[in-house]
Amino acid sequence: MTERQKSPAGQQTADVVILGAGPAGLTLANILHAAGIDCVVLERADDAHVRTRARAGFLAANTVRVLERHGLAEGLNRRGKPHGTCEFRTEDGSFRLDYGALGRRELHTVYPQQDLVSDLLAHYLDAGGRIAFETEAQAVRDADGPRPTVTVRDAEGRPGRWRARYVAGCDGRHGAARRSLPPGTRRHHRDHGVTWLGLLAEAPPSMDAVGYAMHPDGFAGHMARTADITRYYLQYEPGAPADAWSEERIWAALDRRMRTDEHGPLHHGRILQRSVIHLESDVVEQLRHGSLLLAGDAASLPAPAAAKGANLAVLEAELLAEALVDELRRGDSRALDGYSPRCLAHIWRAQEFAHWMIQFLHSPVGPDEESFFHESMRRSRVESLRTSRTHQDWFAENYVGL
Ligand code: APR
Repeated sequence: MTERQKSPAGQQTADVVILGAGPAGLTLANILHAAGIDCVVLERADDAHVRTRARAGFLAANTVRVLERHGLAEGLNRRGKPHGTCEFRTEDGSFRLDYGALGRRELHTVYPQQDLVSDLLAHYLDAGGRIAFETEAQAVRDADGPRPTVTVRDAEGRPGRWRARYVAGCDGRHGAARRSLPPGTRRHHRDHGVTWLGLLAEAPPSMDAVGYAMHPDGFAGHMARTADITRYYLQYEPGAPADAWSEERIWAALDRRMRTDEHGPLHHGRILQRSVIHLESDVVEQLRHGSLLLAGDAASLPAPAAAKGANLAVLEAELLAEALVDELRRGDSRALDGYSPRCLAHIWRAQEFAHWMIQFLHSPVGPDEESFFHESMRRSRVESLRTSRTHQDWFAENYVGL
């Protein structure tokens, strides 16, 4: 099979079979391939879809370090934009935090995820890495033994099978890896009770900061993506379809909540993409089940309030790659045995901060005493972040850190 062709029917082998060509799967594949480990990536979508799917784009300092360590950062170092400022617009006034000068003095890099994934894919293919597109993993079998197999179906619906020493489940929250976990595997889920409308607008950024607006009508967020594309979030009616609001109504809500009367107009433009995002989080209790190991969204889903998803995915991919190289090259399984607890420490820290951000950005709904109490605490939290250097350092360290 050449690098790009579909996987023929029948049985094939690789030491490590990686499910999914997202940030987790492709970072892992690049590091393993560079270490001479026999691996293959099985990806359900086709090449074009993988390269163009717009998702996150806010890379933490640790992610840049990992990618630089493995020679995978050329694109983001050339085209990524360093970012270190948040602006909070509240009913009690607005304030900016130059978080790059606070905490560990670390910055984010704004680099659209589709560009990162395209770079990782190009690097892997140029190095002779194996990937099978339009190949959907159906199930992982015998993961409790030394030779797990992955059953697949290709674009023509033909069944196939991959035999491996290890299977890396990097196929997201609804992928085959999660579906193949042993019965009784514990997952911890939290519904944050908040819904956002996620928007991609064909408009230049309207501020040189990540903008967080807390407004009686609900939260609004502004994140630059490129010089011509801006990501917006709007707190939205739970259950409403993505197309319930007209573009006029969306821009009117963004203008009102971002208080353009005080801070100047937003650049309006065509809404290119919209999606309803219900804020929820989940964590699989153990990330290793015999020869099946989880990374990225397959391992945990942090609510998107703190831009942790893609950054956790890259962190976990490096830890897993190094552990698999130790095991497959040197027969040393200590890092593999420690993989799950090491990742979970980062995962729960990210969950904790994402939860804090959700409580910070959203007013509780309802006139009841409970809501009033929470709202008063929330406003005091805002005031503390505005005035306390200690709180600002804590914020910066957790906002960028993992
Ligand atoms: N078989 C093969 N491939 C699959 C299957 C399957 N059964 N199911 C899903 N996939 C593929 C998807 O098409 C996708 O390309 O797995 C890949 C998973 O990639 P991501 O969803 O990007 O997941 P991950 O690498 O874990 O990165 C997650 O990136 O997009 C951000 O914020 C987002 O937190 C998220 C992070």
